[in-house]
Amino acid sequence: MNLSTKNLATSLKDYSSSSSELIVGNHPLNHIEKLVSGTPFYVYDRQLIINRVKQLTNTLPSEISLHYAIKANPLPSLVQLMTTQVSGFDVASKKEMLLAMQTGMPAEKISFAGPGKTAEDIEAAIIAGVTLHVESAGEIARVELAANQLSLKANIALRINPKFELKSSGMKMSGGSKPFGIDEEQVAEILTNLNLSQINLRGFHIFAGSQNLNAEAIISAQQQTFMLAEELVALVSEITKSKIDYLNIGGGFGVPYFANEASLDIEAIANSLQILLKKHKTLVTGLELILELGRYLVAEAGIYVSKVIDKKVSRGTNYLVCDGGLHHHLANSGNFGQVIRKNYPVVIGNKLKGDVQELVNIVGPLCTPLDILADKVMLPEATMGDYVVIFQSGAYGASASPKDFLSQPQVSELLL
Ligand SMILES: Cc1ncc(COP(=O)(O)O)c(C=O)c1O
Repeated sequence: MNLSTKNLATSLKDYSSSSSELIVGNHPLNHIEKLVSGTPFYVYDRQLIINRVKQLTNTLPSEISLHYAIKANPLPSLVQLMTTQVSGFDVASKKEMLLAMQTGMPAEKISFAGPGKTAEDIEAAIIAGVTLHVESAGEIARVELAANQLSLKANIALRINPKFELKSSGMKMSGGSKPFGIDEEQVAEILTNLNLSQINLRGFHIFAGSQNLNAEAIISAQQQTFMLAEELVALVSEITKSKIDYLNIGGGFGVPYFANEASLDIEAIANSLQILLKKHKTLVTGLELILELGRYLVAEAGIYVSKVIDKKVSRGTNYLVCDGGLHHHLANSGNFGQVIRKNYPVVIGNKLKGDVQELVNIVGPLCTPLDILADKVMLPEATMGDYVVIFQSGAYGASASPKDFLSQPQVSELLL
C-alpha cells in the first residue's frame, strides 16, 4: 500500500524473472539459496554494476575519473570487480585500505579519508603510499611526525569543509561546524605551516554530502567546489610555490529508496560539468579530477532475501515473520539515519505474479519493535517458506548492520 509502484517497477525491471520467481545473475532465488546454504542472504548482480558504471562513464565528461568508496559495500569479490570498472578507490579504514591494495589497485589511486585516523592508520597509509585525506591541523602534525620516523614522504590532500552545504542531501557533511575536514578559512594558515620535506601535497578533497537526488543541488555544490578550488590553488601557489595534481570534487549521487523518489538526473549533472570544465580550463589542466561515489554504483545491484518462517494475525493485522531483519539490514529497518521510517521496494520473490493480494506487516526475528522489514504493504498472499526480497540493498547493507545483535545467525553474501 505504501509501496511506490514506480520504484518497484524500476527495481524489478533491472532483474529478470522466470514465470514468477526473481532471477539474479541467471540463477533463480531457490538455486541461490542452495548456493549460499540457506536464507537470509544478500546477492549482488555484477552485470547491473557494470551497466551502471558504463552508463555513468558514457554520460560524464571523459576528464572525470570515477573512484569507488569502498564503505558502500566492501565485499572483496565486489571490490575486485570494481578494479575493472573504476580508476581508483576511497577507503575509510586501514582494513579497507589493505583490501584495496590487495586488489592490485595502484597506491596513487587509493585515498584514505575519515576523521580519527590512528597513528597506526597513518603509518600504514604512508608505507602503502596512498593519499591521506587529512582532516585537521593535528592530523597533519601526526602525519609529518610519522613520515619523519619512517624516513618516507607522505602523500596528502587537504579535506576541506567548505562554507557551502550540499542542499537537500540525505547526509550533509559540509557547511557550518563539522567534524569532517579543515574549514576553508583555515587553509592559508595550514599551508604556511606545512613541512614540505615530509609531505607531498597532492591537492584537495571537497566532499559535501551523500544520498542526494536533487541534480540542481549537486550542480550548485559542484559550481561552488570549482570556485573554491580556484582560490585554494592560488593559495598553494602563493604560499608553497608549488602546484597540485589532484582534485577530488566529492560525490553525493543518491538512489531512490522510497515512494515518490525519482532517479537522479545524471545528464543534467554531466552537462553542467562540461560547462564547468570549460570555465575552469586552466585550473583543471593537468589535474586528476575525481568523482567519488559509493551507493550510486552498487545500491541498485543488490537485494536482501529472507524467508517467511511464521505467519500470524494480531487483532486484525497480518504479520509475516522472517528469518532476516535489522541485524542484517539496518538501513531498511529505518534505523540508519532516517527521521521517519519508509519502506524500501519489497516483493515476494517467488510470487511475483501472485493474484491474491493481502495487506501485511513484515518483521524480522528480533525481539524489538524496531525490527521491521516492511510496514503495511500490499503483496501477493505469502506462506511459510516464501522469499521476502528487499530491493536497493547493494550499499550500506551487511557491513552497516549490527550483525551480532541478539546473536542471530550471520548473513551470507554472494556476487553473481
Ligand atoms: C568521504 C566520503 N566519501 C564517499 C562517501 C560515499 O557516499 P555515497 O555512498 O553516498 O556515495 C562518503 C559517505 O559518507 C564519505 O563520507
